[in-house]
Amino acid sequence: MTAARTRYAGPITEARIHPHGLVDQGFATDEALADILDRYPAGLFDINLYDYDDAGQVSLRTGARGRLNGAELLAAIQQGRLWVNLREVETGWPELWAAAMAEFGKVQGAYAGMRAVRNAGQLILSSPKARVPYHFDAAGVVLFHMRGRKRIYVYPGDEAHLAEIDMEQVVARQTTEELPYDLAFEADAQVMDLEPGQALTWPLYAPHRVENLDRFCVSLSMDFQTWPSRFRNGALFTNAVLRRAGARPRFTDAMSTPELAARWAASLALKRAGAMKSRIAGFERDFEPDAAAADGARPLTA
Ligand SMILES: [Fe+2]
Repeated sequence: MTAARTRYAGPITEARIHPHGLVDQGFATDEALADILDRYPAGLFDINLYDYDDAGQVSLRTGARGRLNGAELLAAIQQGRLWVNLREVETGWPELWAAAMAEFGKVQGAYAGMRAVRNAGQLILSSPKARVPYHFDAAGVVLFHMRGRKRIYVYPGDEAHLAEIDMEQVVARQTTEELPYDLAFEADAQVMDLEPGQALTWPLYAPHRVENLDRFCVSLSMDFQTWPSRFRNGALFTNAVLRRAGARPRFTDAMSTPELAARWAASLALKRAGAMKSRIAGFERDFEPDAAAADGARPLTA
Protein backbone atom coordinates (compact mmCIF):
# COMPACT_ATOMS: atom_id res chain seq x y z
CA MET A 1 0.00 0.00 0.00
CA THR A 2 1.56 3.28 -1.07
CA ALA A 3 1.07 6.43 0.96
CA ALA A 4 -1.70 8.74 -0.23
CA ARG A 5 -0.40 11.20 -2.81
CA THR A 6 -2.80 13.92 -1.72
CA ARG A 7 -5.17 14.87 1.06
CA TYR A 8 -7.87 15.43 -1.55
CA ALA A 9 -7.73 12.02 -3.14
CA GLY A 10 -11.12 11.85 -4.81
CA PRO A 11 -11.35 9.04 -7.34
CA ILE A 12 -7.91 9.81 -8.86
CA THR A 13 -5.24 8.38 -6.57
CA GLU A 14 -2.09 8.89 -8.65
CA ALA A 15 -0.86 10.45 -11.89
CA ARG A 16 -1.86 8.29 -14.84
CA ILE A 17 -1.62 8.45 -18.65
CA HIS A 18 -4.65 7.95 -20.93
CA PRO A 19 -4.68 7.88 -24.77
CA HIS A 20 -6.44 10.63 -26.74
CA GLY A 21 -7.19 11.30 -30.42
CA LEU A 22 -6.72 15.09 -30.76
CA VAL A 23 -3.43 14.82 -32.70
CA ASP A 24 -4.92 12.43 -35.27
CA GLN A 25 -7.75 14.94 -35.78
CA GLY A 26 -5.22 17.53 -37.05
CA PHE A 27 -5.36 20.10 -34.25
CA ALA A 28 -1.58 20.37 -33.71
CA THR A 29 -0.12 20.97 -37.17
CA ASP A 30 1.82 24.17 -37.93
CA GLU A 31 -0.96 25.20 -40.30
CA ALA A 32 -3.72 24.72 -37.75
CA LEU A 33 -1.72 26.53 -35.03
CA ALA A 34 -0.70 29.51 -37.20
CA ASP A 35 -4.32 29.85 -38.24
CA ILE A 36 -5.69 29.78 -34.69
CA LEU A 37 -3.00 32.25 -33.51
CA ASP A 38 -4.22 34.64 -36.21
CA ARG A 39 -7.84 34.26 -35.14
CA TYR A 40 -7.58 33.94 -31.36
CA PRO A 41 -9.08 36.86 -29.39
CA ALA A 42 -6.21 39.08 -28.15
CA GLY A 43 -7.88 39.42 -24.76
CA LEU A 44 -7.51 35.67 -24.19
CA PHE A 45 -3.75 35.60 -24.82
CA ASP A 46 -1.12 35.27 -22.07
CA ILE A 47 2.53 35.31 -23.05
CA ASN A 48 5.05 34.56 -20.32
CA LEU A 49 8.81 34.19 -20.07
CA TYR A 50 10.29 32.40 -17.08
CA ASP A 51 13.79 32.84 -15.63
CA TYR A 52 15.24 30.41 -13.09
CA ASP A 53 18.18 30.82 -10.72
CA ASP A 54 20.44 28.00 -9.49
CA ALA A 55 18.22 27.30 -6.47
CA GLY A 56 15.26 26.60 -8.77
CA GLN A 57 13.51 29.84 -7.81
CA VAL A 58 11.51 31.43 -10.60
CA SER A 59 10.84 34.94 -11.85
CA LEU A 60 8.23 35.73 -14.46
CA ARG A 61 8.01 38.31 -17.18
CA THR A 62 4.69 38.91 -18.91
CA GLY A 63 4.40 39.77 -22.60
CA ALA A 64 1.90 41.51 -24.84
CA ARG A 65 0.36 39.88 -27.92
CA GLY A 66 2.40 42.17 -30.19
CA ARG A 67 2.02 42.67 -33.91
CA LEU A 68 3.30 39.35 -35.29
CA ASN A 69 0.99 37.35 -37.51
CA GLY A 70 0.17 33.76 -36.56
CA ALA A 71 3.02 32.13 -38.50
CA GLU A 72 5.57 34.63 -37.13
CA LEU A 73 4.33 34.21 -33.57
CA LEU A 74 4.52 30.43 -33.97
CA ALA A 75 8.15 30.79 -35.13
CA ALA A 76 8.97 32.99 -32.11
CA ILE A 77 7.58 30.35 -29.76
CA GLN A 78 9.37 27.53 -31.57
CA GLN A 79 12.73 29.33 -31.23
CA GLY A 80 12.44 31.15 -27.92
CA ARG A 81 11.83 30.60 -24.20
CA LEU A 82 8.19 31.57 -24.19
CA TRP A 83 5.08 30.07 -22.73
CA VAL A 84 1.90 31.11 -24.56
CA ASN A 85 -1.43 30.43 -23.01
CA LEU A 86 -4.64 30.72 -25.05
CA ARG A 87 -7.37 30.91 -22.44
CA GLU A 88 -11.02 29.83 -22.76
CA VAL A 89 -10.56 27.36 -25.57
CA GLU A 90 -14.26 26.69 -25.15
CA THR A 91 -14.92 30.10 -26.74
CA GLY A 92 -11.65 30.67 -28.67
CA TRP A 93 -11.51 27.36 -30.57
CA PRO A 94 -14.89 25.58 -30.30
CA GLU A 95 -13.97 22.78 -32.74
CA LEU A 96 -10.99 21.73 -30.61
CA TRP A 97 -13.08 22.10 -27.47
CA ALA A 98 -15.84 19.80 -28.73
CA ALA A 99 -13.28 17.13 -29.63
CA ALA A 100 -11.52 17.54 -26.27
CA MET A 101 -14.74 17.21 -24.30
CA ALA A 102 -15.42 13.90 -26.09
CA GLU A 103 -11.96 12.75 -25.00
CA PHE A 104 -12.56 14.00 -21.47
CA GLY A 105 -15.66 11.81 -21.30
CA LYS A 106 -13.49 8.75 -21.88
CA VAL A 107 -10.96 9.75 -19.22
CA GLN A 108 -13.70 10.48 -16.72
CA GLY A 109 -15.27 7.10 -17.48
CA ALA A 110 -12.09 5.44 -16.18
CA TYR A 111 -12.75 6.74 -12.64
CA ALA A 112 -15.79 5.46 -10.81
CA GLY A 113 -17.66 8.27 -9.10
CA MET A 114 -15.95 11.16 -10.87
CA ARG A 115 -18.36 13.74 -12.25
CA ALA A 116 -17.19 17.09 -13.54
CA VAL A 117 -19.74 19.89 -13.23
CA ARG A 118 -17.69 22.50 -15.07
CA ASN A 119 -14.80 22.25 -17.57
CA ALA A 120 -12.54 24.95 -18.97
CA GLY A 121 -9.44 24.77 -21.11
CA GLN A 122 -6.29 26.55 -22.12
CA LEU A 123 -4.14 25.74 -25.12
CA ILE A 124 -0.46 26.01 -24.21
CA LEU A 125 2.20 26.57 -26.86
CA SER A 126 5.64 26.52 -25.31
CA SER A 127 9.23 26.85 -26.40
CA PRO A 128 11.66 23.89 -26.38
CA LYS A 129 13.35 25.02 -23.15
CA ALA A 130 10.25 26.32 -21.38
CA ARG A 131 9.44 25.15 -17.87
CA VAL A 132 6.41 25.76 -15.70
CA PRO A 133 7.27 26.27 -12.03
CA TYR A 134 5.97 24.36 -9.05
CA HIS A 135 2.29 25.16 -8.51
CA PHE A 136 -1.11 23.62 -7.95
CA ASP A 137 -4.45 24.11 -9.65
CA ALA A 138 -7.55 24.48 -7.48
CA ALA A 139 -9.27 21.99 -9.76
CA GLY A 140 -8.86 18.64 -11.44
CA VAL A 141 -6.72 18.70 -14.57
CA VAL A 142 -6.39 16.56 -17.69
CA LEU A 143 -3.36 17.59 -19.74
CA PHE A 144 -3.89 16.53 -23.37
CA HIS A 145 -0.42 16.51 -24.89
CA MET A 146 -0.43 17.18 -28.63
CA ARG A 147 3.12 17.98 -29.80
CA GLY A 148 6.69 17.66 -28.56
CA ARG A 149 7.75 15.91 -25.36
CA LYS A 150 7.37 17.10 -21.83
CA ARG A 151 8.20 15.77 -18.41
CA ILE A 152 5.67 16.28 -15.62
CA TYR A 153 6.63 16.05 -11.96
CA VAL A 154 3.69 15.39 -9.64
CA TYR A 155 4.17 15.75 -5.87
CA PRO A 156 2.12 14.63 -2.88
CA GLY A 157 -0.59 17.11 -1.91
CA ASP A 158 0.21 16.88 1.80
CA GLU A 159 0.86 19.75 4.20
CA ALA A 160 4.63 19.56 3.68
CA HIS A 161 4.35 20.10 -0.08
CA LEU A 162 1.15 22.14 -0.20
CA ALA A 163 0.45 24.11 2.95
CA GLU A 164 -3.23 24.83 3.46
CA ILE A 165 -2.51 28.51 4.17
CA ASP A 166 -0.81 28.79 0.77
CA MET A 167 -3.83 27.14 -0.83
CA GLU A 168 -6.08 29.75 0.76
CA GLN A 169 -3.95 32.55 -0.69
CA VAL A 170 -4.13 31.08 -4.18
CA VAL A 171 -7.86 30.36 -4.06
CA ALA A 172 -8.53 33.89 -2.78
CA ARG A 173 -6.34 35.22 -5.64
CA GLN A 174 -3.95 36.99 -3.30
CA THR A 175 -0.98 35.53 -5.15
CA THR A 176 -0.33 33.67 -8.40
CA GLU A 177 -0.47 29.90 -8.22
CA GLU A 178 3.22 29.49 -7.48
CA LEU A 179 4.00 27.83 -4.16
CA PRO A 180 7.00 27.69 -1.85
CA TYR A 181 9.36 25.20 -3.47
CA ASP A 182 12.31 23.28 -2.10
CA LEU A 183 14.73 21.16 -4.14
CA ALA A 184 14.30 18.44 -1.50
CA PHE A 185 10.75 17.89 -2.86
CA GLU A 186 12.30 16.18 -5.89
CA ALA A 187 12.77 12.96 -3.94
CA ASP A 188 8.97 12.75 -3.56
CA ALA A 189 7.98 13.38 -7.19
CA GLN A 190 6.14 11.00 -9.49
CA VAL A 191 7.81 11.67 -12.87
CA MET A 192 6.01 11.02 -16.16
CA ASP A 193 7.14 11.73 -19.74
CA LEU A 194 4.35 12.66 -22.13
CA GLU A 195 4.26 11.98 -25.88
CA PRO A 196 1.74 13.38 -28.37
CA GLY A 197 -1.52 11.47 -28.12
CA GLN A 198 -1.18 10.97 -24.38
CA ALA A 199 -3.23 12.72 -21.71
CA LEU A 200 -2.13 12.92 -18.09
CA THR A 201 -4.32 13.39 -15.07
CA TRP A 202 -3.40 13.48 -11.38
CA PRO A 203 -5.08 13.74 -7.98
CA LEU A 204 -7.06 16.93 -7.49
CA TYR A 205 -4.85 19.74 -6.09
CA ALA A 206 -1.61 17.76 -6.36
CA PRO A 207 1.31 20.20 -6.87
CA HIS A 208 3.26 19.74 -10.09
CA ARG A 209 5.75 21.31 -12.45
CA VAL A 210 6.57 20.80 -16.11
CA GLU A 211 9.75 20.74 -18.21
CA ASN A 212 9.77 20.64 -21.99
CA LEU A 213 12.26 18.09 -23.30
CA ASP A 214 13.99 20.21 -25.94
CA ARG A 215 11.04 20.33 -28.27
CA PHE A 216 8.36 22.86 -29.08
CA CYS A 217 5.30 21.65 -27.18
CA VAL A 218 1.55 22.00 -27.61
CA SER A 219 -0.86 20.83 -24.92
CA LEU A 220 -4.48 21.45 -24.06
CA SER A 221 -4.77 21.81 -20.30
CA MET A 222 -8.34 21.11 -19.29
CA ASP A 223 -9.37 21.87 -15.74
CA PHE A 224 -12.58 20.71 -14.16
CA GLN A 225 -14.56 21.17 -10.98
CA THR A 226 -16.52 18.50 -9.20
CA TRP A 227 -18.94 19.26 -6.38
CA PRO A 228 -16.35 18.20 -3.78
CA SER A 229 -13.67 20.48 -5.34
CA ARG A 230 -16.15 23.33 -5.52
CA PHE A 231 -17.02 22.94 -1.85
CA ARG A 232 -13.33 22.73 -0.92
CA ASN A 233 -12.43 25.85 -2.91
CA GLY A 234 -15.28 27.78 -1.34
CA ALA A 235 -14.21 26.68 2.13
CA LEU A 236 -10.61 27.72 1.42
CA PHE A 237 -11.82 31.14 0.28
CA THR A 238 -13.96 31.60 3.38
CA ASN A 239 -11.03 30.53 5.58
CA ALA A 240 -8.78 33.06 3.83
CA VAL A 241 -11.25 35.83 4.70
CA LEU A 242 -11.56 34.62 8.30
CA ARG A 243 -7.80 34.36 8.68
CA ARG A 244 -7.27 37.88 7.39
CA ALA A 245 -9.79 39.05 9.97
CA GLY A 246 -7.64 37.52 12.69
CA ALA A 247 -9.47 34.22 13.15
CA ARG A 248 -7.73 30.88 13.10
CA PRO A 249 -10.10 28.66 11.08
CA ARG A 250 -9.78 24.89 11.21
CA PHE A 251 -8.13 23.32 8.19
CA THR A 252 -10.55 22.10 5.55
CA ASP A 253 -8.91 18.68 5.78
CA ALA A 254 -10.77 18.00 8.98
CA MET A 255 -14.18 19.25 7.81
CA SER A 256 -17.17 17.07 6.94
CA THR A 257 -19.06 17.57 3.68
CA PRO A 258 -21.86 19.61 5.36
CA GLU A 259 -19.25 21.91 6.94
CA LEU A 260 -17.47 22.34 3.60
CA ALA A 261 -20.81 23.03 1.88
CA ALA A 262 -21.70 25.67 4.46
CA ARG A 263 -18.34 27.41 3.98
CA TRP A 264 -18.78 27.22 0.21
CA ALA A 265 -22.17 28.93 0.57
CA ALA A 266 -20.55 31.58 2.78
CA SER A 267 -17.88 32.15 0.12
CA LEU A 268 -20.53 33.02 -2.47
CA ALA A 269 -21.91 35.73 -0.20
CA LEU A 270 -18.41 36.99 0.63
CA LYS A 271 -17.50 37.22 -3.06
CA ARG A 272 -20.72 39.09 -3.80
CA ALA A 273 -19.86 41.48 -0.99
CA GLY A 274 -16.42 42.07 -2.49
CA ALA A 275 -14.31 40.49 0.24
CA MET A 276 -10.69 39.75 -0.74
CA LYS A 277 -10.20 41.72 -3.93
CA SER A 278 -7.88 39.95 -6.34
CA ARG A 279 -4.33 41.26 -6.21
CA ILE A 280 -3.26 39.67 -9.46
CA ALA A 281 -5.66 41.34 -11.89
CA GLY A 282 -3.34 43.91 -13.48
CA PHE A 283 -0.03 42.52 -14.71
CA GLU A 284 2.49 44.85 -16.29
CA ARG A 285 3.58 43.79 -19.79
CA ASP A 286 7.38 43.53 -20.06
CA PHE A 287 8.05 42.30 -23.60
CA GLU A 288 6.52 41.24 -26.88
CA PRO A 289 7.38 38.18 -28.99
CA ASP A 290 10.09 38.49 -31.62
CA ALA A 291 11.61 35.46 -33.37
CA ALA A 292 14.86 37.35 -33.92
CA ALA A 293 15.38 38.46 -30.30
CA ALA A 294 17.03 36.51 -27.48
CA ASP A 295 14.53 34.02 -25.97
CA GLY A 296 11.99 35.15 -28.58
CA ALA A 297 11.19 38.24 -26.50
CA ARG A 298 11.87 41.90 -27.28
CA PRO A 299 11.61 44.24 -24.25
CA LEU A 300 8.77 46.72 -24.29
CA THR A 301 9.89 50.20 -23.29
CA ALA A 302 7.49 52.39 -21.40
FE1 LIG B 1 -1.05 23.15 -13.54
